[in-house]
Amino acid sequence: MTSYLKNWTPDQFQSLEEEILLARHTLHESGLFDDANLIRMIDRHPPQHLGINTMGFDEEILEWREGHRNGVPADVLLNLVRTGRLWINLRNTLDHHPDVREAIDAIYDELEANNRAFQAVDRSANLLISSPGAIVHYHIDVPVNMLWHLRGKKRVWVYPPFDFHYVSQEVIEAVCSNEQVEDVPYETMFDLGAKVFDVEPGQLLTWPQLTPHRVTNLEGLNVSLSTEHKNPRAKRRINVHLANQWLRRTFGLPCRSAEVNGPVAHAKQALARCVRKGRRLLGTEVVRKNEYAVTFKVDPDAAFGFTLLDQPLPPKNRWLPEMFSGQLPAEALATEAAWPQHNQTKDTATVATTA
Ligand SMILES: [Fe+2]
Repeated sequence: MTSYLKNWTPDQFQSLEEEILLARHTLHESGLFDDANLIRMIDRHPPQHLGINTMGFDEEILEWREGHRNGVPADVLLNLVRTGRLWINLRNTLDHHPDVREAIDAIYDELEANNRAFQAVDRSANLLISSPGAIVHYHIDVPVNMLWHLRGKKRVWVYPPFDFHYVSQEVIEAVCSNEQVEDVPYETMFDLGAKVFDVEPGQLLTWPQLTPHRVTNLEGLNVSLSTEHKNPRAKRRINVHLANQWLRRTFGLPCRSAEVNGPVAHAKQALARCVRKGRRLLGTEVVRKNEYAVTFKVDPDAAFGFTLLDQPLPPKNRWLPEMFSGQLPAEALATEAAWPQHNQTKDTATVATTA
């Protein structure tokens, strides 16, 4: 079987889902993601799973816009991404492109074979094709995710995992219970604690579940495969957050432990499943909708490759003041010195681009 992992050490396999990990792969040399194949994939991909977005120019201002393809052929669209300010997402890539599924299954199988504690079920992937200066704002992902970088260069800020200073417990719970989208409130001060990676083709960057991160493309057409998976522990982590939220809201109990191992975590999982089933029966379950109103159309003649429609940006595409409630203790916002545990400069946090 083809191996797409390059020079992995036993420690790297063991750090999966436990730590922030930068490692090497060879997926970018497979030929699967050259221009001709990208054009073919865009053409073959079901339109309802092809996202076309743009995102403003400021990492502090969430301005995520959904676009209409406007009948633009795949080759023209790819060129507009190369020269404009667009972000294309081929969602559920593994369901529609068997050659990519084969490669990703081979990768996950090899990861599982080398780390007995690592399990990747419910595997999925999004193929991200984005412009040289595109931004992905500060967010968390509910499944565990891994960024396999293939083309171009991007800077990724990864913030401390499992640290409620960066995303409050209430916000994480709201995301896990589908009450809130994965874009979570961002403060520039968070960057003091970030690890910053300039990621190049042939590098994998991954982190523990629910770790906040953001991205700015640095140069070239950027192509990355963002794979996601779950496993019993990842599902339990979501259920523990759900149970904590329900117990505090329903009974005022001081349930704040996010521990995912042990009998209490398993009991919380059982409770969360009952709550979810109950809500389903009562018709009160919140179902996450990632569909955004279309506020621009692709336009080959326009600067940046798109034209805004006469359509207001919906509120959920922005960070709202109420999303910040409980986000940060007041003392953390007061001064940088209030962050001694993350008191490092960007320079010392910058990690070399080789792994
Ligand atoms: Fe992400």
